[in-house]
Amino acid sequence: MEIKQYLSDKKQLVEDKLDSLMLAADGPFSHHIEAMRYSLFAGGKRVRPILCRASAEAVTSDPSLLDEALIVGCALECIHTYSLIHDDLPAMDDDQLRRGKPTNHMLHGEAGAILAGDGLLTFAFELLARPATAISTATQVNIIRLVAEAAGPLGMVGGQALDIAGENSSYPFEHLQTIHRSKTGALIRCAVQTGALAGGASNEQMQQLTSYGEAIGLAFQIVDDLLDATSTTEALGKSAGSDQIRGKVTYPAFFGIEETKNLARKAIEQATQSLTNFDAPAAPLVQLAEYIYARTY
Ligand code: IPE
Ligand code: IPE
Ligand code: MG
Ligand code: MG
Ligand code: MG
Repeated sequence: MEIKQYLSDKKQLVEDKLDSLMLAADGPFSHHIEAMRYSLFAGGKRVRPILCRASAEAVTSDPSLLDEALIVGCALECIHTYSLIHDDLPAMDDDQLRRGKPTNHMLHGEAGAILAGDGLLTFAFELLARPATAISTATQVNIIRLVAEAAGPLGMVGGQALDIAGENSSYPFEHLQTIHRSKTGALIRCAVQTGALAGGASNEQMQQLTSYGEAIGLAFQIVDDLLDATSTTEALGKSAGSDQIRGKVTYPAFFGIEETKNLARKAIEQATQSLTNFDAPAAPLVQLAEYIYARTY
């Protein structure tokens, strides 16, 4: 299977689903919804919903369960997009470019951007809690709990707090790893776990997919650090070199470029080793791990 084709097929699936789920920008809240839609449809890679769906595909071929996983993936993409809008604010990373376009606050103002993020985060939970027919209420509640934990104070938000607090300071490697695992790793691991849950994974499958998700989640932020240090603003669609300007402690700052590549590679190998008990339907997950390592933006 060609991963490029897989990614572009699944990306289209995600775009169509997001479009069908997202609120229309009309009525009294049209400006607010327009600000949410601006970032949501600005051309993200859709890695989290694709992973969520691919994880479900690894454990089921039932179309209604795969569709549930896709909806969960879309909710995660709303949360991810909110995190980017807030991450770019002047009070945080103070970036002007995102997904090749002006950041949300550049167009909608800081209050508009904060509220667009708040709207996307809350709307995600509305999607997760929608009446579902294919999965049990217990499974749905488990998914909601996993998402809340991954996005919340001991996950993404907590990681962002540590990231900001750690600017222009020095700390041990273990702390950097905690930041990366929480600010970025948690939501990626959660995409894999919730896809598996929606697909009806066994406990053993859940354990293996959780290890896979943890490893690619860490690798994802290591590669993000690498790209910030080595790529260009044009290629990334966001400002290259932003980490150094903000005084972030990153993997390249800690280890240099070559050793950082080795560490990313190691995480990818760990991820694929977690999948050795799976067969053909998990092949896209293996290739997605490779893609996370080799991506150029
Ligand atoms: C960027 O995420 C921010 C991180 C968590 C590292 P992505 O690289 O997935 O950004 P988009 O969604 O494709 O724009
Ligand atoms: C952001 O990490 C992680 C989030 C939860 C948004 P970065 O600050 O490195 O992400 P980019 O490089 O701005 O996309
Ligand atoms: Mg940041
Ligand atoms: Mg940033
Ligand atoms: Mg970055």
